[in-house]
Amino acid sequence: MPFPLAQRMSLLGTESAFEVLARARAMAPELEKKGRPLINLGIGAPDFQTPANIVAAGQKALADGYHFYTPAKGLPELREAVCEDIAKRRRVDVHPDQVLIVPGGKPTMYYAISMFGEPGTEILYPNPGFPIYESLIKYTGAVPVPIPLLEETGFSFDPEFVLSKITPRTRLLILNTPANPTGGVVGKRELDVLVKGLEKHPHVTVLADEIYARLIYDGLEHVSLLAYESIRDRVILLDGWSKTFSMTGWRLGYGVWPKELVAHAERLQINSVSCTSAHSQIAAIEALRGPQDAVDKMVKAFDERRKLIVDGLNQIPGFRCVMPRGAFYAMPNIQGTGMSAKQLQEFLLVECGVATVSGVAFGAFGEGFVRFSYASSNDNIREALRRMREALSKRPALSNARR
Ligand SMILES: Cc1ncc(COP(=O)(O)O)c(C=O)c1O
Repeated sequence: MPFPLAQRMSLLGTESAFEVLARARAMAPELEKKGRPLINLGIGAPDFQTPANIVAAGQKALADGYHFYTPAKGLPELREAVCEDIAKRRRVDVHPDQVLIVPGGKPTMYYAISMFGEPGTEILYPNPGFPIYESLIKYTGAVPVPIPLLEETGFSFDPEFVLSKITPRTRLLILNTPANPTGGVVGKRELDVLVKGLEKHPHVTVLADEIYARLIYDGLEHVSLLAYESIRDRVILLDGWSKTFSMTGWRLGYGVWPKELVAHAERLQINSVSCTSAHSQIAAIEALRGPQDAVDKMVKAFDERRKLIVDGLNQIPGFRCVMPRGAFYAMPNIQGTGMSAKQLQEFLLVECGVATVSGVAFGAFGEGFVRFSYASSNDNIREALRRMREALSKRPALSNARR
């Protein structure tokens, strides 16, 4: 008998990277037999171990008896460490009372979207973008209004276009820079124009997903939405430890909330996960206050891989790839292969043993693109490029517009 599920369950999407991961894992033995071990450029998780000083702090916390609930908002010392970090890197003073420690980057997103979304409201979000934005917006019954991110602008957006989409029904504007899946970075000029315009729309709250803030290249400096004083009282900052410190499995993130919203976010936390695991929070203090050389090393390695993969992708028949400026993703235009994004994702997995994620997994504007996560070794990246070049050279490419 079918379960009489709530209707909204049919509105919930997913994050296809996890499905690709499961399928790739299932296919791995077969690929291994064929002498072509799977190369996973699908999932967005750094391939480095968590730095040893952070692991040691987590272990010590367990040995010291951090086995119990913490305050729902997080350990006071960690919330202070987050404020210090924000003061240092974003040059903004926030109060520890505004900080909510959560298990990963996703809960801040979940709390913000569920706080504002309901039938009759609109939420603006980047497309292609992190798939959970659109999924959760639909789940709440709100109308998802896409902000197209275009290849021509290095996957930034036109601030005037964004402002033109604001209506009296708009409740939330979601921005993500540096971005998943494009690696795009929104420049200060675009943000300045956007913020100036937002000043005229005080009913719009902004969710700034800055989880890749420290993974930025070419000497660029991350510009935080929180740094804009005129809208600071309606910016929700999302950040966390997953990407910066290679801690995806520790489930650690934080939100900085406007004073009026933090109690609502805390209530959502108490109604769902209660708090973040205690020993993870102790490790998180070490991550922020301890030595940062491991992060610098990871960023340097990502930067090298970025150049390696983009150069290689541009040599594959039917591909052309703009240079991403942040995160650890490259998103080539693959229209020249004559395949749809999903067809190419399947082709690369089956024919090359290379896991990627089709652009449409990130929204309709991702058609014609495939996402590569370059959080993998140089050897893996070289081998994946070699296999793809070989397989696609055998097919008639429609075009090979190189950059
Ligand atoms: C843009 C963006 N925001 C948030 C998250 C969620 O991070 P976490 O794994 O810490 O929940 C991700 C993860 O891939 C992401 O790419």
